[in-house]
Amino acid sequence: MNKLEEREEFIPVDLSRLSVGIKIPFRIFVRDNTGLHQFIEKDNLFTAMHLSSLKERGVTKVYVALRDRGTLEGYLQERDYDALIQEKRLKDYVYWKEKYFKIDEALLPTGASIDFSIFVSDSMRFIPLLKVEEGKSVKISEGLIPKNKDILIKASDIYLYERYLKSLEGIDLPSYQTTNLEATVAKERANIVMKDIFDNQITYEKFEVVRDLTRRFIEGILNNKYVAYNLLSLKRLDYYTYLHSVNVGVLSLGLAITAGLSNKDVELLALGAMLHDIGKSTLPPEIINKPSRLNEREFMIYKNHVIEGKRILEGIDRFPKVSMEPVLLHHEKLTGRGYPFRLKEDRIGVFGRITGIADCYDALTTPRLNKYPLTPYNALFIICKETADYDRGLLKEFVKMMGMVKFKCPTKGK
Ligand SMILES: [Fe+2]
Repeated sequence: MNKLEEREEFIPVDLSRLSVGIKIPFRIFVRDNTGLHQFIEKDNLFTAMHLSSLKERGVTKVYVALRDRGTLEGYLQERDYDALIQEKRLKDYVYWKEKYFKIDEALLPTGASIDFSIFVSDSMRFIPLLKVEEGKSVKISEGLIPKNKDILIKASDIYLYERYLKSLEGIDLPSYQTTNLEATVAKERANIVMKDIFDNQITYEKFEVVRDLTRRFIEGILNNKYVAYNLLSLKRLDYYTYLHSVNVGVLSLGLAITAGLSNKDVELLALGAMLHDIGKSTLPPEIINKPSRLNEREFMIYKNHVIEGKRILEGIDRFPKVSMEPVLLHHEKLTGRGYPFRLKEDRIGVFGRITGIADCYDALTTPRLNKYPLTPYNALFIICKETADYDRGLLKEFVKMMGMVKFKCPTKGK
């Protein structure tokens, strides 16, 4: 017992009950092998830095003086209430998120006429941006579409959006070359079918649509490499499994072309890469959208999406066997640190290696609730630091390829 403890009595409090970013209306003490020491002065902010320094020291409990008990109880009650509200908001958001579809706002230029309502996602809410009554159409006015927000439509209006996409074929959109417009529209179509696959299930017909769109991406890129640079940039402010799937598909096929794979192999790889996360359709949305780190049990469930993906795709007769590799191996690492099989080096083929890089890059650059994304540069930097995990040659090609992309990705969070 040190001098402090001789003078005062203290109450232990679990570290997890302190909220980051909030002023603490009492002093906080931490115990080490010499006794208790003051860690934070009254009315100071409890920061993420405080939390990580305590965690690094293995601290799980902090101490508050007994005379501050009343203030402590008030603080904890308020935090519990906030946590409850936050949990309810998150639950609502996850529920409603499924009922909307994120669109590429670059396809909504000023003056375009639309017959579906559009919404903006802000602070876990979907706010109408332009309400269009059934059977009517409205023109997009100048400055209507905000730059750094996700623009969505109701999932039930997707059929109207598909009709709108068809009407764009062959027209001149500002900032679009025809080939780029075609590729962007094809990517929107791929997002639509992928959402349908995740929300409902994959059928032979939907698989054929994915195959057809994949072929179109490849043709577009082979005819005009700038199409690839346009397709590889994706702006979004939250995670959507269907967008991630299509993006990993496009990133993988871009890398496969750059790395010199044959056209047939590019197609077989891209098909698997597009559907690499299809097993996530079996996961509870709370796990997919959880803003904080998954606990051990949740992570076990999460990892199972790889095996579930295999099971689902085995039900599609015409799904090529070799296209299963991106599905099965996209989380494996050359060092054997990946999952679920912990395969090493030569046991991971080129399809698995390519999809692994694309998947990791897309995950790092995707913003999530309460989490800023890495910029493309920082994401590449981090992946390159883990060279032992990834194929060096492919990584080099990937960095070269991404260096050519003009990014639309947000660098600031919501
Ligand atoms: Fe995955």
